[in-house]
Amino acid sequence: MNCFGFDIFEFDIETGLIRSGYIIISIKLKGAMEMNILSVNNVTKYYGKEPVLVKALNGITMEVEAGSFTAVVGTSGSGKSTLLHILGGLDTPTSGSVIVDGQELGGMEKNELAIFRRRKIGFIFQNYNLIPNLTVYDNIVLPVELDGRKVDSEYLTIIVQTLGLADKLNRKPVKLSGGQQQRVAIARALAAKPAIILADEPTGNLDSHTSQEVISLLKSTGRTFHQTIVMITHNDEIAQSADRAIRIEDGRIVESRW
Ligand SMILES: Nc1ncnc2c1ncn2[C@@H]1O[C@H](COP(=O)(O)OP(=O)(O)O)[C@@H](O)[C@H]1O
Ligand SMILES: [Mg+2]
Repeated sequence: MNCFGFDIFEFDIETGLIRSGYIIISIKLKGAMEMNILSVNNVTKYYGKEPVLVKALNGITMEVEAGSFTAVVGTSGSGKSTLLHILGGLDTPTSGSVIVDGQELGGMEKNELAIFRRRKIGFIFQNYNLIPNLTVYDNIVLPVELDGRKVDSEYLTIIVQTLGLADKLNRKPVKLSGGQQQRVAIARALAAKPAIILADEPTGNLDSHTSQEVISLLKSTGRTFHQTIVMITHNDEIAQSADRAIRIEDGRIVESRW
């Protein structure tokens, strides 16, 4: 708690008296900072070397409020996936810093970062990243079990039913369509009830009806568990319905709309 104070003099119209006093103003600085669960400071990411240097991110600075839903839009190759991977500590920036829930990712040991990521962040990857020799069920509960936690079966049932996966739990991912695999990836991200969900076009392979259902599910679990969602999308309707939309072009934020 940080405090500062100053003298006040107050003229009381009714009594004609001048009163003086001392006001102490307390600012919960820590509380204010915790409002932003993600803080990105001047992040760049370069791939390769001259003459084939690719500047994927060119100085991204942004804050994401806890519990909010941010949509990230932009043309292909603009740097959206790179940004998402860096936000979640899957990739390291060339320069700049990323602070997640008060912890700077760059200052963490590899193992520490892996545990932090598993507990805090749920990724929904563009290419699903499912493990082929595990069943759908085992894929979904893997992050929770790796963390030595117990699966919340009641909650899992809701997720699995909403995502239409209830009768596919014993199948291997290869037996599923692209859209179904995408839904498994979403279920896996949600199962661990992470504080932050980073999703790379999670509805890219779903029809518009299923997309809407998935977005509704993400929003309602987001509200229930006070989750922060950062989602890359090409769907204007989804971007419109977010609390905030960020447009990235050539590795820069060119527009930010609340
Ligand atoms: N591992 C990598 N090695 C080299 N270049 C990469 C790599 N990953 C991404 N890029 C390049 O960085 C730029 C941004 O890519 P990406 O973040 O995937 O864009 P988006 O997700 O917006 O389509 C592109 O030019 C892409 O080719
Ligand atoms: Mg991408």
